[in-house]
Amino acid sequence: MFLQFMIDSRLADLQQATPGLRLKADPADLEHYGRDWTRRWAPKPLAIVLPGSVDEVQSVVRWANRHHVAIVPSGGRTGLSGGAVAAHGEVVLSLERMNKVLEFDAVDRTLTVQAGMPLEAVHNAASEHRLIYPVDFASRGSCSIGGNIATNAGGIRVIRYGGTREWIAGLKVVTGAGDVLDLNRGLIKNSSGYDFRQLMIGSEGTLGIVVEATLRLTDPPLPTNVMLLALPSFDVLMRVFSAFRARMQLEAFEFFTEHALCHVLAGGAQRPFEMSHPYYVVTEFAVGDEAMEAASMEAFEFCMENGWVEDGVISQSAAQAEQLWHLREGITESLAPYKPYKNDISVRISTMPAFLEEIQALLGHEYPHFEVVWFGHIGDGNLHINVLKPDDMENAEFVRQCERVTELLAETLTRHGGSISAEHGIGLVKKPYLVSTRSTAEIALMRGVKRVFDPNGILNPGKVFDEG
Ligand code: MLT
Ligand code: ZN
Repeated sequence: MFLQFMIDSRLADLQQATPGLRLKADPADLEHYGRDWTRRWAPKPLAIVLPGSVDEVQSVVRWANRHHVAIVPSGGRTGLSGGAVAAHGEVVLSLERMNKVLEFDAVDRTLTVQAGMPLEAVHNAASEHRLIYPVDFASRGSCSIGGNIATNAGGIRVIRYGGTREWIAGLKVVTGAGDVLDLNRGLIKNSSGYDFRQLMIGSEGTLGIVVEATLRLTDPPLPTNVMLLALPSFDVLMRVFSAFRARMQLEAFEFFTEHALCHVLAGGAQRPFEMSHPYYVVTEFAVGDEAMEAASMEAFEFCMENGWVEDGVISQSAAQAEQLWHLREGITESLAPYKPYKNDISVRISTMPAFLEEIQALLGHEYPHFEVVWFGHIGDGNLHINVLKPDDMENAEFVRQCERVTELLAETLTRHGGSISAEHGIGLVKKPYLVSTRSTAEIALMRGVKRVFDPNGILNPGKVFDEG
């Protein structure tokens, strides 16, 4: 292996400058680390580096500047926008060896971790102290906290707790220039100028490599119940949401269609109701006392009386709650074999009814020949629209047709003041549509900011926007 690195003098120099650094360049490794869950680009990295310390990350960044080699920072690579794809001879810098808890502070209620720690391990570490890190989503076992921060990941509990951005008390990053920045240091109050911590969150590895994070923790929620509702039409969705939100403390409010359910059922899950229904909602809510339980029943009955809900089931045990959640959380995996083209869009909740009416008509008209699966975080104004590739169609042609429709969708989003990426990031997939959500002046400023933090453009080049 060492011989192979010697053939590329740049890698030989890296190994010499950073003797403890682990390098990989087997074809299987290049393939594994060079892609994320998008599967649209053929991975082609130069090599994979696996630093074990902040010093080693800094050394790799300095080397990359010397040799003008691009770096793709890499967490669990569960991203859906191509942010972690390395298809042009980049070095993938995987944080997977930097996966430990560094400190728990009981007074500050913070947990400081290395960036490669999987989200689920963060949850477990918090629960050892009877606290929670409340950001959560289905890929919890595979994604890493550093990747979550780079994307400003959202998930299923944003309605109650907000997204990743709200829970980061401090960040240590290595910038593209090779500087180590210790940002905000866990402070609650800090009005001392620009907040670079927040700038790094959601920057998709284009400004700095997140190496450590100090996470805010909070109390576990009151006991909760999970309810699955069957709805007769899409039009009533926002009414059911308003009825439930007015009466209960919602922890989650997610919807999916019969199409989505069928794909999860094909994997072995049990149909929740005797009959099929066009739409479903899975909602989790606090039931700390009798009044709260009564309120949930009242909301349910109110929706039934109005004909907005046709059926419902409430979890009687933790195992049943998990089964109900699986019907929603299993969707992404069940669709993966169809190479879905994913839209991840958001508008303000108040705008949702008008926006939904418009895009339902648009997509019904533009996608008569494809299966379109709708689901998502309706309580946050965030929809996932997955278009499934027919077996007999070339992927490039399928993507071309979907991109034409995304242009129209993006134009609708602009009119409604929405976003082309609610929580998956821009990466490569949404890059052509960034202009639908951010003004020309904003994008010019983003380019300027990138030049300040990454003067030689070595960090994740070509992601989010093209440097120009
Ligand atoms: C989800 O909500 O399940 C995730 O954002 C993943 C996806 O959209 O496929
Ligand atoms: Zn989502």
